[in-house]
This record gives sequence, C-alpha cells and structure tokens, in this order.
Amino acid sequence: MAAGTTLQKAIDLVTRATEEDRNKNYAEALRLYEHAVEYFLHAIKYEAQGDKAKDSIRSKCLQYLDRAEKLKEHLKKGKKKLVKESDAGSKEDKDKKSDSDDEDGDDPEKKKLQSKLEGAIIIEKPQIKWSDVAGLESAKEALKEAVILPIKFPHLFTGKRIPWKGILLFGPPGTGKSYLAKAVATEANNSTFFSISSSDLMSKWLGESEKLVKNLFELARQHKPSIIFIDEIDSLCSARTDNENDSVRRIKTEFLVQMQGVGNDNDGILVLGATNIPWVLDSAIRRRFEKRIYIPLPEQHARLVMFKLHLGNTTHVLTESDLKELSNRTDGYSGADIQIVVRDALMEPVRKVQSATHFKRVSGPSPVDKDTICNDLLTPCSPGDPGAMEMTWMEVPSDKLYEPPVTMADMQKSLSRTKPTVNEDDLKKLQKFTEDFGQEG
Ligand SMILES: Nc1ncnc2c1ncn2[C@@H]1O[C@H](COP(=O)(O)OP(=O)(O)OP(=O)(O)O)[C@@H](O)[C@H]1O
Ligand SMILES: [Mg+2]
Repeated sequence: MAAGTTLQKAIDLVTRATEEDRNKNYAEALRLYEHAVEYFLHAIKYEAQGDKAKDSIRSKCLQYLDRAEKLKEHLKKGKKKLVKESDAGSKEDKDKKSDSDDEDGDDPEKKKLQSKLEGAIIIEKPQIKWSDVAGLESAKEALKEAVILPIKFPHLFTGKRIPWKGILLFGPPGTGKSYLAKAVATEANNSTFFSISSSDLMSKWLGESEKLVKNLFELARQHKPSIIFIDEIDSLCSARTDNENDSVRRIKTEFLVQMQGVGNDNDGILVLGATNIPWVLDSAIRRRFEKRIYIPLPEQHARLVMFKLHLGNTTHVLTESDLKELSNRTDGYSGADIQIVVRDALMEPVRKVQSATHFKRVSGPSPVDKDTICNDLLTPCSPGDPGAMEMTWMEVPSDKLYEPPVTMADMQKSLSRTKPTVNEDDLKKLQKFTEDFGQEG
C-alpha cells in the first residue's frame, strides 16, 4: 500500500460525512464518520507521519467521534418517536421493540467505548508478508503454530492439544517485533486483528482504561477468531508497586482477569505482546504469556537478506560479495539500523544528481516507460569524462534523467555514518531474561 493512501481515503470519507451531516442525512453521516475514524487510526498506525501530525489527527478523530455520538443519540430518539407515533402493529411487536430499546439503553457508556475501540480493528491489511521479515525463523514458526494452523486445521487442535493463548515478543529495539506483528495481521487473514499501543491506552484514556481493556476483550470474543496485539506492553503491565496510581493498578488487575479467562471464554483469542524491557513486567502478567520469544539482533545471514529487502528494485551495481561484505561488517546493527544505512545510501544517487555540474548522454530504459530504450538520456558525470556537458539538473528534462545506480562506495559512506543503536548493557539484561524465562527466536 503506498504511503498516504489510507489517510487520503479517511479525508475523503470525512468530507463526505460533513456534507451528509449538513444535508441532514444523519444515518449516512454517522456511518461515514465512523468509517473515516477507522481509516484515520489505521493511517496513524501504519503510515509514516510525524508526531505532530499524529496528534492533530487524534484530536480530530475525537471531534468526529463526538459528533458521531450525538448523531447516534439523535437517531435513536427519532426512532422511539416513530414507534410511539404509530399506533399500527400488534402489541407483541411493540413489546419486542421496547425490549430491544431497553437493551440499547442498557449501557450507553459501554457502547461508546466499544465504538471507540472498533477504530482499533485493522480494516486494511498492512501488506507485510512472512517473507518480508528477515530471519527470526523460530519466532515465525511459533506464530504460525499459534495463529494460522488452528484456523486452517481446527481438528488438529482438539482435546489436550490447545493453541497458545499468549505470546510475548521481546528483544532489543528495532529488531522487528512490531514488524512481525504486522506480518501476523496480514497473514492471519481470517482473524480480526486488534492493535493497541499501551502507551496510547495509558495516556489517552487514563481513568477509563480498565473499562477499555474489558471491552477490548469482549469485542475480541464477539469477533473471534481474533488476535489482540499490545505493543509496548511494559507501560501497561509493569510490576505492581505500593505507591502507584490507583487507575494503573486497576488496569493491571483487569488485564490479569481478562487474560486468565475465569468465567470468560478465551477460546480463539490470542494475545500478542511486544516489549524491549521485559524485566519490568509484572510476574503474574509474564506467566500469562505462555510463550516468550526472544527476538535477537539479526545474524549475518538475516542481515544479508535485509540489505537485499531494503534495496528492493532500486537500480544498483552491488554484487553478491559486496552485500556479503556489508552484512559481515554490520555485526551488532539492528534491523532498523540496517534500514537506515540502506535508506541513506539510496539517497546518494539523488545527491549526485543535485550536485552534478556535468552530465553526459547514455542509452538505457526510459524513466517513464521501462520497456522502451532511449539513446538520449542524461546522467551525472565528472567534468573530464568524454562527452561531458556543463549543465545542472535544472536543465535536464524530467523524462530524460538516467538515475546513477547505488554503488558499494555509497553503501560504505552511509555505513561509516550510521552507528548501531543497541548497547551492550541492554543486551546483557535481555540475555539474562532469556535464560531465566524465555526462548530463543
Ligand atoms: N527482521 C526484519 N526483517 C525486515 N525488516 C526488519 C526486521 N527487523 C527490523 N526491520 C526493519 O526495522 C524497522 C523497525 O522495526 P520494528 O518497528 O518492528 O522494531 P521493534 O522491534 O518493534 O522496535 P521497538 O522495540 O523499538 O518497538 C521495521 O519497519 C523494518 O523495516
Ligand atoms: Mg515496536
């Protein structure tokens, strides 16, 4: 999915919603508002946006939800009036209607929370496949075992063989924990995927959060099979202390109750958690994640795959042995670090175009249509090259630029600028936690 498409869709939806709202088509407006908010939340989660933009989208969403809530109230009142006004219809009919009305009015707060939560259901898949995640073979296996197989072959998981109910992914930052969860969302296409960042929960709904947790699980039960993904679970479930805030304690308790499943049917629900500081988790919570998988820094082979993945189909002249050398030289780099190295190197050709004082003619596939070969393309070159013409990129027609390929020198330059972000101390702590409670991924 190209970046920005979901956001654009959300904006379109909201524009239509306000239009319908103005035209007093409230039912349609309500539907559109709710739909738009779903898309906005999805855009925040899965499309690159700055923090500021995210905040403003969030506050806009709250406004839309408020409006949607009002519309809902209004529509409900309208319906009641209709029922009262019409004397037609048998008594039985009326009774039924008032019954269902009662149910509706039962717990408006609950409805409100659930409608907020429904925004967290991933409606569009993030489009990340298993094969996009480099290495981490045993983590992938465990996730397939827990998510895909029970749905595909339910008869395999009967009797004493029950699928995992809780999986914790832990490891240094930038090693692909959240990324792996997105792959699960894509690949488990028969399940409903709820994705909640616990820092979101804590900041936005403080005070309401424990109800939110309860509703989240209820919603998951209604839509099963479902997967609840809680990112940065450490901020939700750190060890209980004496002096902590009451509401924080209530969230933890609620979470324990819900995951335990006493009196609750948790069949078909998988809770997936991710953290990079697993040692702060409450021991009771830790126990509820039956499987704890260490997502380590990538091995040499995984790094090689990552270099290839991040290069994608960009024009480059790197040989297999170049890539191997790069992967050997990036011991200690996380997946995110490698992504930055490659991204920076991919910018080098652009910089070359920008700073070039001379261009020369070459032949190659046309930038607008890869199938036709043009003989009059222009590419940056040094002033001494045969055929060099003094000019800048401003004078190059937009359909005549031949992009310089990414070279090993570009990669090396970028590598020397980017340092690994994970430190020794954290790795030691994670290693210790793995020995005590975990399993290698
Ligand atoms: N195994 C991997 N395969 C492919 N890409 C990866 C891998 N690991 C990390 N990446 C890249 O690094 C980026 C960051 O990864 P991600 O957000 O999953 O890290 P994380 O483990 O959740 O970190 P944190 O603990 O800080 O939340 C991803 O968007 C992805 O492009
Ligand atoms: Mg993450």
